[in-house]
Amino acid sequence: MEKKMRKSQCVVSKSIAKNLLFLFVPLLCFSIVSSYDSLDPYGNITITWDIMSWTPDGYVAVVNISNEQQFRPVSEPGWKLGWTWERQEVIWIMVGAQSITQGDCSRFKGIIPHSCERSPTIVDLLPGTPYNDQISGCCRDGVLAPMGFGDPYLSTAGFQLTVGAAGNTNKTVRVPKNFTFGVEGGGYTCGPAKIMRPTRFFTPDGRRVTQALMTWKVVCTYSAFLVKKPVCCVSLSSADHRLSSSCKDCACGCRNASMACTGKGGAEKACAFAFSCEMHQPQLSS
Ligand SMILES: *[C@@H]1O[C@H](CO)[C@@H](O)[C@H](O)[C@H]1NC(C)=O
Ligand SMILES: *[C@@H]1O[C@H](CO)[C@@H](O)[C@H](O)[C@H]1NC(C)=O
Ligand SMILES: *[C@@H]1O[C@H](CO)[C@@H](O)[C@H](O)[C@H]1NC(C)=O
Ligand SMILES: *[C@@H]1O[C@H](CO)[C@@H](O)[C@H](O)[C@H]1NC(C)=O
Ligand SMILES: *[C@@H]1O[C@H](CO)[C@@H](O)[C@H](O)[C@H]1NC(C)=O
Repeated sequence: MEKKMRKSQCVVSKSIAKNLLFLFVPLLCFSIVSSYDSLDPYGNITITWDIMSWTPDGYVAVVNISNEQQFRPVSEPGWKLGWTWERQEVIWIMVGAQSITQGDCSRFKGIIPHSCERSPTIVDLLPGTPYNDQISGCCRDGVLAPMGFGDPYLSTAGFQLTVGAAGNTNKTVRVPKNFTFGVEGGGYTCGPAKIMRPTRFFTPDGRRVTQALMTWKVVCTYSAFLVKKPVCCVSLSSADHRLSSSCKDCACGCRNASMACTGKGGAEKACAFAFSCEMHQPQLSS
């Protein structure tokens, strides 16, 4: 079904692409022969895990995904964050995101974890998620505006997870490995998680500072080298050249390519910025 969606979508954007293609081909070639991203050489996606409390069998952590790139958004269908647990850790509860598979939880009786996958893949929730299941930064279908957009809220995502069968002191906890940051078409490579100075949090009135019990960070960088064949004829160029795209009309997860942005909660502004012709158009699936 997904394939079908993309196909129809490309048809929609092809005509727009025609006008753009000759403009972008030289630039595109340039960005492919260079091993780094010429427009955003120091940009990255930074993932921060903050352990907020220990539990009898593990911990509660808040994860913050921050798009530190000046120009490149993360467009629909959004980010997919993956990692591999060091041991037999499970995710008891997840707020503001979900593991796309539960995995084999047959060793549990009674309360069943949210995910027992050894290498879970986490995705954002959709806008309109019930208020009680939300958390700051969630529920934008994985869309992240670039930092250059000037709105840190739209450039970051957040979710919370309660991890079990894990260490519950800063000496016994195991940092997950092999992080992956997936987007349509690929392109990101993540480094190892590094233990950092615990993040400090300010209360809204700025009068009190709290800090995480333990913090680690993962930095993922983008390389045009790694991008698989673009889903849509203009997706590479549109993502890389925000200032020159007339592809805007199909950018917003719009119901209708001839309409302006329909907007989806917080994604609205990020979308308007993204010009991405690779976004899904839900009404085309059936
Ligand atoms: C990630 O990107 C930010 C913003 O460009 C930069 O300040 C930071 O040094 C980068 N981090 C790494 C590890 O490259
Ligand atoms: C993520 O961290 C950044 C930098 O500390 C902060 O500005 C932003 O509000 C955080 N995002 C969420 C969703 O918590
Ligand atoms: C672990 O906690 C102790 C004190 O509780 C602290 O001195 C130490 O720096 C912490 N280690 C890490 C890696 O956070
Ligand atoms: C994790 O990455 C290391 C190298 O960084 C590799 O040797 C190992 O096979 C990977 N493990 C999994 C489960 O992918
Ligand atoms: C798309 O929008 C145009 C103009 O608003 C309208 O005429 C057309 O019927 C719409 N198509 C669909 C499939 O909604």
